[in-house]
Amino acid sequence: MTSFFSEEQSADAVNARMGKDVDPRLKTVMSALVHHLHAFVKEVELTEDEWERAISFLTATGQMCDEQRQEYILLSDVLGASMLVDAINNRRPEGATESTVFGPFHVENAPVRKMGDCISLDGKGESCLFEGRITDLDGTPISNAKIDVWADNAEGFYDVQQPGHQPKWNNRGIFVTGDDGAYCFVGSKPVSYPIPDDGPVGKMLFLLGRHPFRPAHMHFMITAPGYQKLVTHTFVDGDEYLTSDTVFGVKQSLIAPFEKTENGTPVWKSSFDFVLAPATPPNNPA
Ligand code: BEZ
Ligand code: FE
Repeated sequence: MTSFFSEEQSADAVNARMGKDVDPRLKTVMSALVHHLHAFVKEVELTEDEWERAISFLTATGQMCDEQRQEYILLSDVLGASMLVDAINNRRPEGATESTVFGPFHVENAPVRKMGDCISLDGKGESCLFEGRITDLDGTPISNAKIDVWADNAEGFYDVQQPGHQPKWNNRGIFVTGDDGAYCFVGSKPVSYPIPDDGPVGKMLFLLGRHPFRPAHMHFMITAPGYQKLVTHTFVDGDEYLTSDTVFGVKQSLIAPFEKTENGTPVWKSSFDFVLAPATPPNNPA
């Protein structure tokens, strides 16, 4: 029997329209989306004015996006959705280094540098030695691990946010480990910075009484044959935003020591070891 749309069974009326041959995963995801969307509209008794404002907000969010700027990812980040997707998809065994949000500022194919090289091409800020080892769960060093790092400069901006002002590839580089699994490079000590807040997401944060800051961090993406890719950061211990990261990326285990060196060159040193989880065998998904 045909059932017309009604407030009581609104989600069912929409989901009943789905065809028979719809991809099963698409069916699961879309039915749940419709179900939760309708429940949300009912829970808050959305007004027509609020509905129009929501449409304007989503339109402005899309209009803010271009090659350099992904306002929808920022929206997902500040709503905690990015970290939730990360948590669900990166459950790792005890002892493996935890992952965190990828963020919008990674650039593919950064220059491959030699261990010990400096990635701070503008020379601004306080210098910092980053060093440690990449190992497996048993502590065995992993050779041939590719460590892709990126960070903001001492003024709190990534090179891609200031083309022409910062040198290309400033505070970026790829390092490859040898047999000892060790890495070391010099950079500037990261500083806390606001995520881009001159668009609809920034306006939303303001209306919600939230600040746009992230605590100071260095990004790491580590890949090695036979191991799960690790996308993570190390956070500067003591940063004032550690407990209020606007994108919820901080995990206790990722807070790294930053200590002043004795001879002052570089000024700071941060030691942090990364432990990679083995790749999941394809026929035995965890
Ligand atoms: C970042 O750490 O680069 C970042 C992450 C989420 C949103 C904006 C920036
Ligand atoms: Fe960042």
